Amino acid sequence: MSEVSSVPGTGMIIDGKALASELEAETKERVGELVALGRRPGLATIIVGENPASAMYVRIKHSACDRVGIRSENVNLHEDAGIEEIIETIRGLNEREDVNGILLQLPLPGNRDSAPAMAAIDPAKDVDGFHPVNMGSLLAGAERLVPCTPKGIVWALERLGVSLEGRETVIVGHSNVVGKPLAAMMLNRNATVSVCHVFTRNLAAHTRNAEVLVVAAGVPGLIKRDMVKPGAYVFDVGINRVEGKTVGDVEFDEVLKVAAAVTPVPGGVGPLTVSMLMSQTATATEMQEQINNR
Ligand code: GUN
Repeated sequence: MSEVSSVPGTGMIIDGKALASELEAETKERVGELVALGRRPGLATIIVGENPASAMYVRIKHSACDRVGIRSENVNLHEDAGIEEIIETIRGLNEREDVNGILLQLPLPGNRDSAPAMAAIDPAKDVDGFHPVNMGSLLAGAERLVPCTPKGIVWALERLGVSLEGRETVIVGHSNVVGKPLAAMMLNRNATVSVCHVFTRNLAAHTRNAEVLVVAAGVPGLIKRDMVKPGAYVFDVGINRVEGKTVGDVEFDEVLKVAAAVTPVPGGVGPLTVSMLMSQTATATEMQEQINNR
């Protein structure tokens, strides 16, 4: 399989970039069909303040838009913008026909609560899947627009031919962005799901049972070789800066010796998330098109 490179005597490296390219190619075709109908998808991003990491992530998303043919624009609000101003901006974008997807880049400056802003996004344009209506639908087993990182992981597992039905899956991290929505998606596919987090006692006792292990804790090197079941599929969502290098939450080289396959950092889950955002922007546009044609 082209997306998994074999290293003799070790596990496989899951090539997130190659998988993301496949998903992008599929999305580009869907975008082409929408353009032929006169409905080029449009994505609007909002950044509040000048966080360099946020600016970089948004630039990466806009480049992906350019590659697949999605029109994109960014609104940069001042660091001091209040929640009312953010919501006003979102309402303006909700009204616009040429904007099919709206993404408020997180975190907000000063770690302000983003929930009121997320709830102001039209659920039909909520390409991040963070609106309470979309989160509720996901939990109820009807997946519409859902968070991109978990959806990218589930998509990659399907593409790699790893069925989730009946699998022992362990997620480390219970955030609204990754852990909680991923648990719901895995349950929707009939996996047995454990969710661990900072208060979990004896983490290793859980992770050692995992046939599929997803780590989104933000702790460099948290997962060591003896915490991984031989033959497991390991997805590392962590992005940490250590001594000038970007590393994940998994001790990659060591874990690769026991796992069936591991995602690298960088080049694993990150590109999958971005390409899933493109896919969901196309999905949002298709859904809006169907509503408009009723
Ligand atoms: N910041 C970190 N991850 C994400 C994400 O998936 N979506 C948004 N909007 N902001 C983020």
